[in-house]
Amino acid sequence: MSETKHLHNQVKPIPPGERARLLGQQGCVVWFTGLSGSGKSTIARACEEALLKDRRFAYVLDGDEIRTGLNKDLGFSMDDRTENLRRIAEVARLFAECGVICITSFISPLKSSREEARQVAGDARFFEVFIDAPLDVCEQRDPKGLYRKVRAGEIPEFTGIGSSYEPPVNPDLHIRTDKTSIQDAVAGVLQTIRARGFLKANA
Ligand code: ADX
Repeated sequence: MSETKHLHNQVKPIPPGERARLLGQQGCVVWFTGLSGSGKSTIARACEEALLKDRRFAYVLDGDEIRTGLNKDLGFSMDDRTENLRRIAEVARLFAECGVICITSFISPLKSSREEARQVAGDARFFEVFIDAPLDVCEQRDPKGLYRKVRAGEIPEFTGIGSSYEPPVNPDLHIRTDKTSIQDAVAGVLQTIRARGFLKANA
């Protein structure tokens, strides 16, 4: 049973506006969603690199990394996925509050989890990016050899096959990775962030 009512934060944090002014950057959460093999990690890393080269403080939270660390107690039932994403949303919010452009790269199959993440991070600094490729394309790519294992019956409840994926209805950005180059995908992500004032000119 959690006991939070006796917790008090006595020291005032630095106001967000002041932090942004001192850092020359405002933090935000760029929440990628899409099937395994759709290209989330590749585009997330390419965005991170482009931002760092532009001297922006960016950081990727990636599925496989978080699932072997912070969330290694969780599996792939819908309840566990929901808890996985709840924790990630909280971590992403902390990064955004630090002033980081935090790119999260998780399947996040449920609309409700993505909506909760938006609430937690704050609507004004949250971007939902749908990294979209048809299932058969993801399966053909099969970068981790997982689809092969799924078809061999070794992985139950795999997203898109034995477990559902709810595509975003109105994402901030929709990238069809079977029709878009990585370079254009990165440009689209950066443009989407910039259009909302998150990449002001470096001082
Ligand atoms: S989520 O559904 O909770 O958002 P997350 O992005 O953290 O998933 O983890 C997905 C990654 O875990 C996949 O890219 C894949 O490498 C691996 N994985 C292992 N089992 C499964 C499964 N049953 N369904 C989907 N991905 C799985």
